[in-house]
Amino acid sequence: MDKQEAKKIIEDLRKQLHYHNYRYYVLDDPVISDSQYDAMLKRLKELEEQFPEFYDENSPTVRIGGKPLSKFKKVEHKIPMMSLDDGFEEGEIIEFDRKVKRFLKLDEDEDIEYCVEPKFDGLSISIIYENGKLSVASTRGDGLTGEDVTQNIKTIRNVPLVILNDPPQYLDVQGEVLLTKDEFKRINEERLNEGLSVFANPRNAAAGSVRQLDPKETAKRNLIMIFYAIREIEGYKKEISTQFEALEVLKQMGFPVSDLNKLCRNIKEAIKHKEYLGLIRKDLPYELDGVVIKVNSFELQKKLGFTTKSPRWAIAFKFEAQQATTKIRDIEVNVGRTGILTPVAILEPVKIGGVVVSKASLHTMDEIEKKDIMIGDTVFVQRAGDVIPEVVKPVKELRDGTQRPFKMPQFCPVCGAKVVKDGAYYRCSNINCPKVLKESIKHFVSRKAMNIEGFGDKLIEQLVDKGIVKSVADLYKLNKDTLMGLDRVGEQLAENLLTSLSRSKGTTFAKFIYALGIRHVGEYVAKLLAERFKNLDNLKKATKEELLSIDGIGEEIADSVIAFFGEEKNLKMIEELLKAGVHFEEDTGKVNPKIKGKSFVFTGTLSKPRDYYKELIEKHGGIVRNSVSKNLDYLVVGENPGSKLKKAQKAQVEIINEEQLLKMLEA
Ligand code: IVH
Repeated sequence: MDKQEAKKIIEDLRKQLHYHNYRYYVLDDPVISDSQYDAMLKRLKELEEQFPEFYDENSPTVRIGGKPLSKFKKVEHKIPMMSLDDGFEEGEIIEFDRKVKRFLKLDEDEDIEYCVEPKFDGLSISIIYENGKLSVASTRGDGLTGEDVTQNIKTIRNVPLVILNDPPQYLDVQGEVLLTKDEFKRINEERLNEGLSVFANPRNAAAGSVRQLDPKETAKRNLIMIFYAIREIEGYKKEISTQFEALEVLKQMGFPVSDLNKLCRNIKEAIKHKEYLGLIRKDLPYELDGVVIKVNSFELQKKLGFTTKSPRWAIAFKFEAQQATTKIRDIEVNVGRTGILTPVAILEPVKIGGVVVSKASLHTMDEIEKKDIMIGDTVFVQRAGDVIPEVVKPVKELRDGTQRPFKMPQFCPVCGAKVVKDGAYYRCSNINCPKVLKESIKHFVSRKAMNIEGFGDKLIEQLVDKGIVKSVADLYKLNKDTLMGLDRVGEQLAENLLTSLSRSKGTTFAKFIYALGIRHVGEYVAKLLAERFKNLDNLKKATKEELLSIDGIGEEIADSVIAFFGEEKNLKMIEELLKAGVHFEEDTGKVNPKIKGKSFVFTGTLSKPRDYYKELIEKHGGIVRNSVSKNLDYLVVGENPGSKLKKAQKAQVEIINEEQLLKMLEA
């Protein structure tokens, strides 16, 4: 091959790879297969090695990462990178809007248009493109001087190395480097296994990843970047007059821009959009810490200008933090329904997201050891929605010698039986441990299980402590006299309890399976099992292969189901329950053939709560899932759908709206 020929092929491959990279990483809509892409990249790499004279610092091959640096160069920002004022309360945001109007000498009741964007919780980066080519990427630093992290930023797959359409002569863009929640988890797991300390949150992990001297290390972290501002632009084909338009221009040029940006007519709409993002943030692949509300018009922005540290035309409206630091006073162990001892950190109470947290899960002994958590440590504690708070990591720098390690007790703190090790878990060896029985009963009577009303914790404790109930089946043997012999139980309550017991006997197969309290079998898996095996005889005989063939059931669950039905004690309990009159009523009622056996996932806001539809669908024999997969039957799309929509389109899942769902439910 002569040089001219090689040059042409190299240039052509680069052009194609830039485009396919954009299709894959920015649009999430590739037009060639991964192996085709890899083959092209490999070919390019070979040619570049053979013809080093055609080196290009923005070749798609730089994503792999170049040579390590000894330190980062400093970069002075031509325009300072400012921070934002922030507010947590609606009142502060209304006040911001008022101030803007006052400054602009506008009437109180005039509307100002705002561009409202997710506030990404990552690391802020400015990138300069000259004549359409990425030239310098830098961190914010102190706002005036940052660090040159160009090499590392170039490894981020969705960052354009060249601008695809209408490149301006000069462009300074700002965006945020992020890690997805999944990738954050993966990195932390990897670090734990390598004996390294974990990152407290995706932001720290992203920052740590960008500040690696070896770009090959950065490349391994699967970072992504989302762009939200044009800091400076020269020589572009047209004037840009609003923030929302700037975001459109960025998208047009090939930059990844959020789908969740919204143009709002006034501050009320802006607040509403923040509330909406607050609702869906838990389903997003990456963390948001609020929204940024920006005056949309550049003309008005210019009039408003800046204070010494931040623009007057923008404010961050933050969600309540999900993380805080506090001290571990002690570590206790909790014996659960399956006899497993879970270490629980007793904390100095701390407010996280508006709730006072005084206990947090430490999961397993293994994790305590790997994370090196000690009693007396100051720790990061995290709370997300309804999930039990957890200890993320210790702040080792704050140790003062008073900390001491935690040891798992050798004997069960409830019954004194020996504690045995079972894989990563420690377990009470007594199958009749009263705590295990109490927890099993609490689970059995709970609303999503047998739904037996009136059996509170105190009552259950008495029943077990007095030896009246030795297995969940004994509940159905209770009579009025026995019940009235308990503390605080009068005739009326006793009668009510008996009525609840009797009413609970007619249940569904899925609820019954869930009530049995099989390890790893939650409400959802119980439904999968009921759907597949239809009756107890089939379920009891289920083989591992049959169980594994169900979408959503893996090794751990399959083994646990088989172990459960392999135990004589459990079979006896089931027999007694059936003898007591427990029976399954599903499938005899009206089931809707359009819904039965079909799976549904929701995205976006519907006019009624999702639980409302969930219950209806389930009543008709359908199933509601959380995530989109190839086997999904329907995606129900509401207003402002999330990323599930794209996924469903890709997987060719049928997409319906709320109205269509209602029609199906009617049939
Ligand atoms: S605009 C002049 N928009 O928040 C200020 N910032 O507290 C320009 N951030 O340093 C920033 N998402 O790291 C802007 N949609 C967004 C953002 C955003 C996250 C970060 C950014 C900035 C910090 C300010």
